[in-house]
Amino acid sequence: MTDVKMADVKTEKPKAPISGGVATAIAHDSAAKHVAGSARYVDDLPEPKGLLHLYALQSPHAHARITAMDLDAVRAAPGVAMVVTAADLPAANQIGAVFKDEPLLADGLVHYAGHPVAVVAANSIDQARHAASLAQISYEVLAPILTIADAHQAGSYLEPPQKMARGDASKALKAAAHRLQGQLAVNGQDHFYLEGQVALAIPGEDEDVHITSSTQHPSELQHLVAEVLGVANHAVSVEVRRMGGGFGGKESQPAIFAALAAVVAKHTGRPAKFRLDRDDDMVITGKRHEALITYDVGFDADGRIEGIAFEQFIRCGYAADLSLAVSDRAMFHADNAYFLPHVEITSFRCRTHSVSNTAFRGFGGPQGVIGIERVMDDIAAFLGKDPYAVRCLNLYGGAGRDLTPYHQQVTDNVIGQIMADLADETDYAARRAAVQAFNESHRWQKKGLALTPVKFGISFTATHLNQAGALVHLYADGSVHLNHGGTEMGQGLMTKVAQVVAEEFQIDLSRIKITATHTGKVPNSSATAASSGSDLNGMAAQAAARTIKNRLIDFACEKAGVGRDQVRFEANRVVIGNEEISFDALVREAYFARISLSSTGFYKTPDIHYDRAKHQGRPFYYYAYGAALSEVVIDVLTGESRVLAVDILHDVGRSLNPAVDKGQIEGGFIQGMGWLTTEELVFDADGRLRTHAPSTYKIPAASDRPDHFRISLFDNANKEATIHRSKAVGEPPFMLAISVHSALVDALASLADGPVRPCLDAPATPEAILQAIHQTGLGAVGMKAFAGSLDHG
Ligand code: MTE
Ligand code: MOS
Repeated sequence: MTDVKMADVKTEKPKAPISGGVATAIAHDSAAKHVAGSARYVDDLPEPKGLLHLYALQSPHAHARITAMDLDAVRAAPGVAMVVTAADLPAANQIGAVFKDEPLLADGLVHYAGHPVAVVAANSIDQARHAASLAQISYEVLAPILTIADAHQAGSYLEPPQKMARGDASKALKAAAHRLQGQLAVNGQDHFYLEGQVALAIPGEDEDVHITSSTQHPSELQHLVAEVLGVANHAVSVEVRRMGGGFGGKESQPAIFAALAAVVAKHTGRPAKFRLDRDDDMVITGKRHEALITYDVGFDADGRIEGIAFEQFIRCGYAADLSLAVSDRAMFHADNAYFLPHVEITSFRCRTHSVSNTAFRGFGGPQGVIGIERVMDDIAAFLGKDPYAVRCLNLYGGAGRDLTPYHQQVTDNVIGQIMADLADETDYAARRAAVQAFNESHRWQKKGLALTPVKFGISFTATHLNQAGALVHLYADGSVHLNHGGTEMGQGLMTKVAQVVAEEFQIDLSRIKITATHTGKVPNSSATAASSGSDLNGMAAQAAARTIKNRLIDFACEKAGVGRDQVRFEANRVVIGNEEISFDALVREAYFARISLSSTGFYKTPDIHYDRAKHQGRPFYYYAYGAALSEVVIDVLTGESRVLAVDILHDVGRSLNPAVDKGQIEGGFIQGMGWLTTEELVFDADGRLRTHAPSTYKIPAASDRPDHFRISLFDNANKEATIHRSKAVGEPPFMLAISVHSALVDALASLADGPVRPCLDAPATPEAILQAIHQTGLGAVGMKAFAGSLDHG
């Protein structure tokens, strides 16, 4: 060790900080590999000898009884090793994640068009497909319940209607100066991850099976596969290096394919791969929940809400999956960023003969938020005010205006500031005037503008899920092996958590190896979901690193005979009293002194609780905020639209990585824009999905990105003690795209002479816009009357 005096250290020029620490804008750890094509996904792994390929035989009917199933020809077809039906499953025919209401393979009854009734395993995927075509299956077709209206009429719900309330909404509605009613239908959304669902199962000794899967939830997948196989959790290991996108579609769905691959692997003793092609993926797997939102609002002469009653009808599909929690979150976000003095939200969880809908970015939140944003636009139209002014009037404020419908106090509110800053930076008044001038001088093109807020609650609303574990090894050369329960789906979680560990040890990021998520390293992890990945895993990894660091400090103190306050970790070196040693050298010495250089870490979010029976509590640790100003233009003759300009100001707390965070904001916004404009799920009268490929299902293309797209981060340390005071970013920006839908409504409104409330549902496809133009052109002030078929008293 060189003999450096403390005085010398102080007068030295400050040494360069570590590279890749917290708050630095560095690229995603796999960015170069993504671009070069060398990032490995499950289907890129070298195929093991004797691999079997799986193919699912699907029900052509939405609701039917299987009366006969002759699979002899399938079994006898060339290359076929196994055919699996419900009767062939070794233990449980059950893949329900929360409720046990979801058979892995249809048993007697089919519940949606596409429902897998059997799986064929063959030497090649072509052989499996060919064999499947030889199946003879007879069905007795039953009447399906397909739509929200059908389900509501039939009283087909997953659970009794839920109510969240504060104050006396009906009294406030009666007393209000003005009162409006309306409704908004929003379609579902396919995840359209670039990498489809895939699992590879490799049988091992005893009862063991190892699964490589594209899943956001390795632990739950492990537990469900064990249940299907009838073995202990310890027999199943699950590994995930990365997903080519998940977006919530890989929270529960991947277990279906992993379980079937595992069944085949254990039965045949051969490795088995289940990889869906795009069409099958879109038909078989759950999507964002379609919703119908109705409202009844009372407000004063300025547009301030006094009382409001919402009804939310959520199309859940045939099984529960995550639908109850998704529907809950739609209720949690029915207020978005607005204080509702008297409020009542009733939620109907409609059970239909369609694919079981699942998590999708925002997890029901977007459906809740778009409802109240429509209310804001309608109040503004009714009063002839600028919607921005009505929004500002209703935002959460200080004491007396800070309580949510679920009785959580909003203590970290910055939305008023964000709205004002964004309006200021974008010169909202001038933009408004310019749009107006454009519309006055253009007959066939109309522009629209909208500035909308987002407030999004962060935490899993099922309190127990807010926990995480990590495992950190420090090798004798000073390099680090980092593992935690979070999964990488493109959102940059691995990079952020590695930055946290680099910061903790004060070593360059390049010293840290990011490793695949593995149930054998960190057990019982929660899904990487609810945007909580970096909050939870960042804390757990920091705790693990800190434990090792504390051992190194103790070792250094003992060695040098100094106190703990005399030991400092600086960039890639450690200052111990008057001496300095490289980090690597200290680690090596610690190894020789037999210091343990490996540790787990654990974190659980403090101060959250929720009473679901009452729909009251503090479900969220904190809120993330943001606002977007969108400008659109519509073509009055064709109904086509374009997003011209978007300005975003978003709160990510103290950003762990501004580059990654901005990427999340941009990606979330564009995905939300797709949901509200071009992505259209069309089911036919028999309940079959007709848009199951990119030819008919239009996600935004690079050319749909607005020419003017500016994203700024709002400087705002998290009030709560999150990891380095950062905030979650994965989902909240999705809802910024609601400004696009509002702006389209604004453009439509400009077609009428007086105040109108255009009737525009989502997605706002050219057809939908033309239809709305037609209605607006007729001067209809009212929305489509709430469909009489929905008789809900
Ligand atoms: N970003 C990319 N690139 N790919 C994804 O699949 N999923 C989103 C969001 N951002 C997703 C994404 C969803 S639904 C969630 S919940 C969060 O990322 C999950 O990751 P986090 O908790 O680490 O933010
Ligand atoms: Mo995200 S919908 O919570 O996976």
